[in-house]
Amino acid sequence: MRKQLKDFMSEIGENAVAIIPAAHEVTRSYDTEFKFHQDPSFNYLTGFPEPDAIAVIDPSSKKNKYTLFVRPRDPLMETWYGRRLGTEGALKNFGADRALPVEKFESELNKILDGHEKLYYRFGVDGKLDQLILNYLSKQHFRRLKTGYPPHTIIDPSVIIGEMRLHKTDEEIELMKKAGEIAAEAHILAMRSVKPGMNEYQVEALMENYMKQQGAAGVAYNSIIGGGDNATILHYVENNMPLKDGDLILIDAGAQYQGYASDITRTFPVNGKFTKPQRDVYDVVLETQLACIEVTKTGTTIKQRQDLSIELLTEGLKKLGVLKGKTADLIKNKKYEKYYMHGVGHYIGMDVHDAGRYFTDQAAKNSRPFAPGMVLTVEPGLYFPPDDKDCPAKFRGIGIRIEDDIVVTETGNLNLTDKVTKDPDEIEAIMSSKKSKSAKS
Ligand code: GLY
Ligand code: MN
Ligand code: MN
Repeated sequence: MRKQLKDFMSEIGENAVAIIPAAHEVTRSYDTEFKFHQDPSFNYLTGFPEPDAIAVIDPSSKKNKYTLFVRPRDPLMETWYGRRLGTEGALKNFGADRALPVEKFESELNKILDGHEKLYYRFGVDGKLDQLILNYLSKQHFRRLKTGYPPHTIIDPSVIIGEMRLHKTDEEIELMKKAGEIAAEAHILAMRSVKPGMNEYQVEALMENYMKQQGAAGVAYNSIIGGGDNATILHYVENNMPLKDGDLILIDAGAQYQGYASDITRTFPVNGKFTKPQRDVYDVVLETQLACIEVTKTGTTIKQRQDLSIELLTEGLKKLGVLKGKTADLIKNKKYEKYYMHGVGHYIGMDVHDAGRYFTDQAAKNSRPFAPGMVLTVEPGLYFPPDDKDCPAKFRGIGIRIEDDIVVTETGNLNLTDKVTKDPDEIEAIMSSKKSKSAKS
């Protein structure tokens, strides 16, 4: 049994049972499915890679603390749809005390639930399983002659699992380093390859090809490859426009490697040379990003870091001549929001927007301080809408974001994605060396 599962067991304690389902395959259209992606919390606790499984965790059981319900071996299904580990594999390689075919789950439900005080289960994710559990609870509730006493308290386990996932172990950090490195190299490849006339989808293709060649399962989220004013659309994913001389390109792309995500944004000139207005905006975003990385360390709260990004970008907007007035008033009246409308970062781990609470107190919304083992992105940006009459014409249509993944350590922090430069002079040097190389060849 893996450590994560043991820790989860001690968190839920005696007299409790947890039911944690795997993900299901999702139909893309007709009889074709999207590529399967395991539920990250199920993956975290069990490591079991197949769809439709259910883990039952019962710390007070003597013999069966950990049961896996799995798809059974089936030669016909395996010929058509791929190998299955079956109950044999679940026992042999995943440390289950007991493995049963998933079809047996319903008939076992009374034995799973009865006699426990608490059930850890998240309603609202798996409709079919919700129904099975609700039906059973309801049946026992309304039965005159009770055959058993199911749990009276139902708790969402995602709070416990989220807290566990938030604090990464050294092994997890190693995997995240690799996810960061692969994505960083893909960004370097893009810097070396982009030129006017290329299409956004070609950049997407070469980056994703590289990530997979390096052993990534794929991208951690749909890549954002935005040339020109497409960079001002935060989640632009069409990626189908030609890249123009004189424009910037914003690339937000990360890799999924052995269950862990990376999330990197770089913005650079399509022709390899920043214009003065582009460089002026870039410098403001870069200075803000560096300052926000600096404070991503033990003790700083999420709100303090967000406030710092707002203050520095507001100052920067004043310096650029976009905003006028007292910084405090501009912040109070949220004047920056038209140009900086998102958070400065988020937790990252198995999910790109990872599990874990952002408040120490959900009701009071007290902002949480960073602690060693947390991994967060730092991604300030400025986006000038192409038709914005309030900003100088020279900035319209410019969108710049710079993003890295930072792990909080005991003594400070570590950047997992710094293999790809964000220094504007170095970017220009990389891009011009590419030109002179191709000119020679
Ligand atoms: N790539 C999604 C994000 O930066 O949050
Ligand atoms: Mn991103
Ligand atoms: Mn991000």
